[in-house]
Amino acid sequence: MKIVFATNNAHKLAEVSAVLGEGYELVTLKEVGITEDIPETGETLDENATIKARYVYERTGLDCFADDTGLEVEALNGAPGVRSARYATDGHDFAANNRKLLLEMRDKENRRARFRTVISLIRGGVEQQVEGIVNGTIATAEAGCGGFGYDPLFIPDGHQITFAEMSAEAKNSISHRGRAVAALTELLKK
Ligand code: IMP
Repeated sequence: MKIVFATNNAHKLAEVSAVLGEGYELVTLKEVGITEDIPETGETLDENATIKARYVYERTGLDCFADDTGLEVEALNGAPGVRSARYATDGHDFAANNRKLLLEMRDKENRRARFRTVISLIRGGVEQQVEGIVNGTIATAEAGCGGFGYDPLFIPDGHQITFAEMSAEAKNSISHRGRAVAALTELLKK
């Protein structure tokens, strides 16, 4: 089944393809001729996922899905949340984001956090949404070099190591995106 995934991020494409399995051919934005950045103007993850999926559907008429992910930290009232990519700077500067998070958390006893991924699917013109959550804690220092983004600072519940210290398979099997994509797979099977 051919379906457009509203991303050009190679990390994400690999993670999502691995969870979806062989029956699906994922097509990227570039491959359908969308080269501009899709504006993420929503105030919530749910809004941004919807905006991106509709953008692709309106331009291509193809079945598609879009995701939006945020790290929600309890002691920071849910920040960085919908602004996770641009927490420290305007760009996707992972190192600067991690430095800022450590700084904001330096005197916080409550280190509870969660990653949340929302996926909006448009199939045959019909829109549906699923989400995936992984709960955990923010480490006191970065550890590991796998994954991307906040992975070196996130210790999922039930583990002693960060996402960045896990294999891609281990992360995918419990991650927010892995869980959201598992829910997406269930939707696609219906
Ligand atoms: P996006 O909506 O998937 O582009 O994610 C927004 C931001 O959240 C990214 O720029 C990363 O900073 C962070 N993020 C998303 N997914 C992950 C992940 O699996 N691990 C660590 N950080 C992530």
